[in-house]
Amino acid sequence: MKSRRQFPDLRFILPLINWSLPTFNNKKSLLSKVVLIHDFKKIASRKVPKAVYDYVEGGAHQEVSLKRSVDAFLRVEFQPNVLRDISKIDTSVEIFGEKISIPVIFAPTGYTRMMHHSGEIAVAEIAKRNNLIYCLSTMGTTAPDELSLAVPDARLWFQFYLMKDRQASVKMIERAQKHGFEVLILTVDTPVSGIRARDIRNGLTIPPRIGIKTLFDMAKKPHWWLNLLTTAPLEFAAFRGYNEPLSQIAAKIYDSSLNYEDITWLRTVWSGPIIVKGVQSISDAEKLANIGIEAIVLSNHGGRQLDKGPVILELLPKVVEKVGHRIDVYVDGGFMTGQDVVAAIAFGAKAVLIGRAYLYGIMAAGSEGVQKVVDILVSEISNTMALIGVASMSEIKPEHVKLRNS
Ligand SMILES: Cc1cc2nc3c(=O)[nH]c(=O)nc-3n(C[C@H](O)[C@H](O)[C@H](O)COP(=O)(O)O)c2cc1C
Repeated sequence: MKSRRQFPDLRFILPLINWSLPTFNNKKSLLSKVVLIHDFKKIASRKVPKAVYDYVEGGAHQEVSLKRSVDAFLRVEFQPNVLRDISKIDTSVEIFGEKISIPVIFAPTGYTRMMHHSGEIAVAEIAKRNNLIYCLSTMGTTAPDELSLAVPDARLWFQFYLMKDRQASVKMIERAQKHGFEVLILTVDTPVSGIRARDIRNGLTIPPRIGIKTLFDMAKKPHWWLNLLTTAPLEFAAFRGYNEPLSQIAAKIYDSSLNYEDITWLRTVWSGPIIVKGVQSISDAEKLANIGIEAIVLSNHGGRQLDKGPVILELLPKVVEKVGHRIDVYVDGGFMTGQDVVAAIAFGAKAVLIGRAYLYGIMAAGSEGVQKVVDILVSEISNTMALIGVASMSEIKPEHVKLRNS
């Protein structure tokens, strides 16, 4: 049957018109276009020099670990239940006796002030505002005491590389403890540095050097360079006072003799919980559970260390089955959506650490970018929970998810 045509009636047309004026606030209009965290990647790549973007995005060697970690999320298949009361969804989870609003923790990332001049303090402020935990890296560009003074009462964890110089290590740990850092995360997947091909090709130095090539780059990214040159110099802030070039400090950080006995020793120095980050095997997870650490992070360092290692999302349920009743199992690597987070919880993770996700946000739009990343995660986690039929984190079970073969 043919539709009958009529003359347009203004009474029906007027309410359909959006009368709001276009926004002239650049950042607001930029953020309004971001729907998924992935949308931040393109914006970030336009805001910072290529070497900085590549430093964040890249992995080690041929980046096989990185690619496989990311691809694993495409194999997630939820097994939803319908007709469940999901009128009130609680996305919170308890970590060391206190709730955080979603099971997401800001992973330690070195040199954050190189990505955006607001750096670690901006990210920790967003963490605090959203009732989340921020983990400061030993390689941070803000010192532990500065951070805790700048963001009082935030929940702060300290990521630590046990250094060859044990006395210096103790000093650093004591400083973090004195300034209210709650948990020590010991990173153990860096007995040596990963071979980062992009950084080598780009000639990345920290801080960035100004050569002829850089001068061209300055013309293309004037804001980033202006911010770099007009704010405090980039440094490994926890090593302030060492009076040594950065390259020499970096060489001291990784102790290639680190072993299980050192972790037992660390127990005598740090009185709070210890989490070991960078575990990639069931046998190591079992050994760590046996020596009494509180938790592990299954992680391949975002694919930045050993290339062609295990796929962490595949390892997660196997490790949880073996040690999940004794220690908490955290996980990281490639988490960019709330669906990914819900899948990890279903596989038995206590919470997820995100690195690049918030770095894309800060590179693109400073602290507002990081806030938007959190907003997206909150909304996607809650949406996914509703759609699989669960109202709280404890209702998410292994039956809710499987990893397809392809
Ligand atoms: C730019 C960058 C710097 C990092 N720096 C550190 C660090 O200093 N210490 C550490 O334990 N992990 C570091 N990581 C690894 C993260 O803590 C985390 O394991 C990883 O980023 C998780 O993967 P994702 O970035 O895909 O979320 C870094 C990661 C990135 C991307």
